[in-house]
Amino acid sequence: MPENEYAYDASRLTVVDHPLVQHKLAILRDKDTSTKVFRELVTELAIFEGYEALRDLPLEEVEIETPLEKMRARKIAGKKIAVIPILRAGLGMVDGILSLVPSARVGHIGMYRDHETHEPVQYYCKLPPSVSERTCLIVDPMLATGGSLTAAIKFLRDAGVEDIRCLTLVSCPEGVKAVLDYDPDVRLYTCVIDRQLNGNAYILPGLGDAGDRIYGTK
Ligand code: PRP
Ligand code: URA
Repeated sequence: MPENEYAYDASRLTVVDHPLVQHKLAILRDKDTSTKVFRELVTELAIFEGYEALRDLPLEEVEIETPLEKMRARKIAGKKIAVIPILRAGLGMVDGILSLVPSARVGHIGMYRDHETHEPVQYYCKLPPSVSERTCLIVDPMLATGGSLTAAIKFLRDAGVEDIRCLTLVSCPEGVKAVLDYDPDVRLYTCVIDRQLNGNAYILPGLGDAGDRIYGTK
């Protein structure tokens, strides 16, 4: 690969590579991991990523009373958040994010990749009210060519959303570059950037088809 073929703006990229994340990823990738465990791991990894992606949530001072005395403490300042899974596989990450921010709204973007062209085909969309005022976390375990994620970003930008953060579990250089080049403001969080795509636009070494592994459809 020529040097810098996949150069991108790394300031908008966070690789969440905590040892616990790497350990869980290793089990997730294993072809012998059961559907049940796979699904549980996707939820757990989404929690780690959500924790990082929401690190800058605004806080406000409130007065509370401990059993000993009054004090000023800080709580989340009621920022509006939406989780937007790309169906199907993105659904597997929703519960993890909701365990961190239970009041978040959930929007759905239905998309699948055409087997021949690898281009995304959109079949469903339902966004929460006042989506443009929300911090939107687009979730999808796999970032391959970037076609699905860039289409989802475009959809949210067209709906007026300003603050978009994308959370994927396994990415590849081609997809990371496609997403960061497509949108100059989007922020991307991933647990790992794998080596490359194969001829069928699957990530190597990857973990196979995330949707099939979450739902046991293969
Ligand atoms: C997978 C994955 C992403 C997309 C990534 O979904 O969950 O949405 O492929 O590939 P891309 O970056 O090349 O667009 P898939 O189309 O297999 O649909 P599914 O979730 O219904 O299985
Ligand atoms: N979608 C998947 O689920 N896996 C890949 O490796 C690429 C796209």
